[in-house]
Amino acid sequence: MTRYAALAGLGSYLPPRRVTNEELAGTFDTSEEWITTRTGIRTRHWAAPGVATGDLAVEAGHRALKSANLPLAPGAVDAVVLATTTPDHPCPATAPQVAARLGLGTVAAYDIAAVCSGFVYALATASAQIVAGQARRVLVIGAETYSTILDPADRTTSVIFGDGAGAVVLSAVPDADRAGVLLGVDLGSDGSGRDLILIPGGGSRERANGEPDQRDRYFTMQGTKVFAEAVTRMGGSASALLDRIGWPTESVDHLVGHQANIRILKALAQRLGLPEERAVVNVDRVGNTSAASIPLALSDAAAAGTLAPGSRVLLTAFGGGLTWGAAALIWPDLHVV
Ligand code: COA
Repeated sequence: MTRYAALAGLGSYLPPRRVTNEELAGTFDTSEEWITTRTGIRTRHWAAPGVATGDLAVEAGHRALKSANLPLAPGAVDAVVLATTTPDHPCPATAPQVAARLGLGTVAAYDIAAVCSGFVYALATASAQIVAGQARRVLVIGAETYSTILDPADRTTSVIFGDGAGAVVLSAVPDADRAGVLLGVDLGSDGSGRDLILIPGGGSRERANGEPDQRDRYFTMQGTKVFAEAVTRMGGSASALLDRIGWPTESVDHLVGHQANIRILKALAQRLGLPEERAVVNVDRVGNTSAASIPLALSDAAAAGTLAPGSRVLLTAFGGGLTWGAAALIWPDLHVV
């Protein structure tokens, strides 16, 4: 029997502490004006000390299950996929622990590591499991606590990144023409750009580099090069997907790009030939939340009524690796939690 994967639930969670640009300007050699004009970010949320990615993932996962009218019980889903750059530990993966804490039983559970593209990669694998008949429902989560890997001596990354989590439930449906069905996914990578976004330490390469240095555990980024790659790669991936599924670019109602920088989102819309107003924006309120960025933007826009049922939605993300991806769907009638 042919099956398709459809969006059946959506939820998100932000840790309560909201950090303003004014607050950061008191700590770093920066200004409210620089952060706002260069990034479009006004506030971001940072988790309290002791709060880990798994904690945020449990909250968002719970809300997505509630949105899909599913219980916190075995049988609710057949798999949990968690996209993150900031797992609770290098080993084991965080997803099994999240599945257990949500009471979902002994389901398949695994992490996806594709940095800011992680959520689109997770959607692709979850949807493939459904289409292959390996799962009827999958909980897909993007969750991050970047505040745990930011270098306090790096004013650029410290003002950009935020913590948060978003989650969706994908569910098997028998026909492709229903709202919510993932109509296509495009994924790509270019490992020659590995050094543009890098945490140098904490992995097996560390041994080859001599004595570990605590600062090697921090996130590093070559911002200007990343900016250019992000626009090119998201634009290319989105265009390739639109061609494949036969959507004319101008038919896209909402462009949900990775929320890295307002200038990247505007440049992406321009590159695709879409009016800027079609770009969903919440980077101003949450900063760059990496793998949580797309589901947080979807949650915000759906809760605000921007994503009306029946509208054409194009998702695209770019991140370390380098990695990128895009996905498309007709927005379903969802109650966001
Ligand atoms: N406050 C004040 N000045 C800052 C600053 C801060 N927080 N961070 C950097 N600067 C300075 C730089 O030191 C540089 O100064 P200089 O000209 O004296 O050397 C100046 O601002 C311009 O920096 P530059 O890097 O050229 O600016 P930019 O226009 O490229 O903007 C980013 C910087 C990081 C905001 C931008 O490149 C970006 O958003 N990149 C993508 C980031 C991202 O989201 N990546 C995640 C993965 S997708």
